[in-house]
Amino acid sequence: MNTLQEQTLLSRREQASLLAKLKEAQKEFGYVPREFMAETARALGLPIGAVYGMTTFYSFLSTRPLGKYVIRICKSIPCCMQNAAMIIDSVAAEIGITPGQNTADGRFSFELTNCIGACDMAPAMLLNDELHGHLSPGKIAEILKACK
Ligand code: FES
Repeated sequence: MNTLQEQTLLSRREQASLLAKLKEAQKEFGYVPREFMAETARALGLPIGAVYGMTTFYSFLSTRPLGKYVIRICKSIPCCMQNAAMIIDSVAAEIGITPGQNTADGRFSFELTNCIGACDMAPAMLLNDELHGHLSPGKIAEILKACK
């Protein structure tokens, strides 16, 4: 049985309870530590794969500590059709890391995400909770320069 199958076999109550615990951990630690996932799986009597699967499914949960500024570039089709790849390359060039990494100084985390509900502003991204759209390499440079 794979992670997706395990996850879909959880009852609604189990899913709600697990998600609430994962959100608490994200709020308290800034990410969901591996030990927390294991403890939660034991406490709720769930397979560890189900806990890991849910943690990695939601883009607002992270399995690693994140930087002060979290950049989430939309990778869904409408943004891809508006050249999201160029925006991803621009961010990488500006901060020197690729998606899934943090800068060494802990200032930036770089993530890709599914649709953030701003398709009419594609290509779009979130910088922490702030939405930015109609992105261009020049706009990326301006936005990131303002991050102190
Ligand atoms: S597809 Fe990118 S915001 Fe919706």
